[in-house]
Amino acid sequence: MCGIVGYIGSREAYPVLIEGLSALEYRGYDSAGIAMVGTDGCRINKDKGKVDNLRKITSSCCMSGSTGIAHTRWATHGVPSLINAHPHTDSAGKIAMVHNGIIENYTSLKQKLAKESLEFTSDTDSEVLAQLIGKYYNGDLASAVRKALSEIEGTFGIAVVAADNPQVMVGARRGSPLVVGIGDDEFILASDSCAIVRHTKKVIYLKDNNIIELKPGDFSISTLDNRKISPRIHSIDWDPSVLAKGGFDHFMLKEIFEQPETVLNAMRGRLIQETGSARLDGLNLVLQELRQIDRIIFVACGTSWHAALAGEYMIEDIAGIPVEVEYASEFRYRNPIIDSNTLVFAISQSGETADTLAAMREAAHKGATVLGICNTVGSTIARESHGGVYLHAGPEIGVASTKAFTSQLTVLSMLTLLLGRMRRISHAEGTTIANALDQIPKQIKKILRQNKNIQEIAQIYHHHSNFIYLGRSYNFPTALEGALKLKEISYIHAEGYPAAEMKHGPIALIDTDMPCVVLALKDSVYDKIISNIQEINARGGKVIAIANEGDKEIENFAHHVIYIPKTIPMLSPLLSVIPLQLLAYHIAAFRGCEIDQPRNLAKSVTVE
Ligand code: G6P
Repeated sequence: MCGIVGYIGSREAYPVLIEGLSALEYRGYDSAGIAMVGTDGCRINKDKGKVDNLRKITSSCCMSGSTGIAHTRWATHGVPSLINAHPHTDSAGKIAMVHNGIIENYTSLKQKLAKESLEFTSDTDSEVLAQLIGKYYNGDLASAVRKALSEIEGTFGIAVVAADNPQVMVGARRGSPLVVGIGDDEFILASDSCAIVRHTKKVIYLKDNNIIELKPGDFSISTLDNRKISPRIHSIDWDPSVLAKGGFDHFMLKEIFEQPETVLNAMRGRLIQETGSARLDGLNLVLQELRQIDRIIFVACGTSWHAALAGEYMIEDIAGIPVEVEYASEFRYRNPIIDSNTLVFAISQSGETADTLAAMREAAHKGATVLGICNTVGSTIARESHGGVYLHAGPEIGVASTKAFTSQLTVLSMLTLLLGRMRRISHAEGTTIANALDQIPKQIKKILRQNKNIQEIAQIYHHHSNFIYLGRSYNFPTALEGALKLKEISYIHAEGYPAAEMKHGPIALIDTDMPCVVLALKDSVYDKIISNIQEINARGGKVIAIANEGDKEIENFAHHVIYIPKTIPMLSPLLSVIPLQLLAYHIAAFRGCEIDQPRNLAKSVTVE
């Protein structure tokens, strides 16, 4: 989704801005632009396409100066084009602005401003805000921004500069993240700390309705209604080296291969094998409060929603607490029934997904205790929740989520263990689960050794146009996730179904051209799955089975078998998803797709 970088300090701003934009490319975008301010005014360059394109345009023109803002745009209002790319300016060219988010009342504001003879050059909602700021600018940029924002409905993360003053930059947020990096005599303002970490690890996460005024060597933060704020300075806890591909062709492949370690990181200091339980101190709930919970609601989107669904199976089965899994985008506009014994978890890799954030706020408004399961430290969901659990998976750069999913499953397994041990599972049962969880990183490593074999299967099937993924019980969510991975990065149409549901419709699609990926693990539904495979075979479909090591019987029914080690059923999605991630990756690679930045997708969806 859109990315912002701003620089003000003592160095040349251009390299920081352009590198910053490159670091944000992973979020997904379609155009890029940059504005530099010097004593000679403001120079803007922008275009449709990649940051490299912008680099080429700007290399031939003067981009020197120590103050500037830059942007990657993901189109919402208006097609990707030069005129719609940011930065935007007011008609008089007094200010330049980059904006993330959506101005909801832009139509009425635009009509009003047009009557004042202000000329609009783009189709964007953002330009309206630039015009408003320009209209109010009279030498005090922060006041002009404050005044303009008081007329805005919607969400924003903005960085603004004034053409007549390179000594000031203003940022503000509501609903779209903004982070300020504090360096020596310099500040970097960005929508994501990936654009900052190479320069400094000291950051301030701006809160909603905060406005920051940055001058070389000085800054001040206040609320939009002009109350001073004393910010907390945080330290980024990961190394910039994670932003490199480390010898892999794509970030996605690197992240798939990181999973033995990221799963371990999610468990570290939390899984207690001796007591067969887990410590999740970040929940900030005392045991008494956890005991009183009689219902859990998970709100999430995309892959995080699939993790939530797996969590529902685990918690209901092991801890005996009723769980509901809600699409955050639906939950936020329903009138959900929530009481004080309902615990609501917002699950989100980025911690910034607009729908999840809104759902979480709605739940909090109705009196629920809201907790977060997030990867991004300091993200809005993490900050606004009562407590929560970080994944500690490190930045996930590939747009298609992989390592965050398995870390979410790990955290949900530990939550299950904690809640289960308080309620109905014995020490022995708890220890069995804890020991099995402890084995997962090693077992993932073993599956990753089959990368070549999975690549060969991918080569056979990469030209197919449709796939079906089937699973039952604990592995129904895995089937959904496998199908999502394939469609996200290879653009192949793929559907995930509970295997038995196939006969109620999807079976009509089965023919010799339809590969079916079936999760056929040795659990309580194994025999049922074999029957489903028989139904596919009877109609000429091709079966790629994910099965447990030692299961020779499956070879009689499946065209290809990918073996994974055995674990307890509750933890099986942590293993069964790995071959599905690799299969999607290799199929997309054979099709020559842009794996890390698939078309139309964004890593962090900060608009509705
Ligand atoms: C986008 C991403 C998905 C992700 C979803 C939810 O659609 O492309 O990979 O699963 O958002 O994101 P979150 O950060 O909330 O987990």
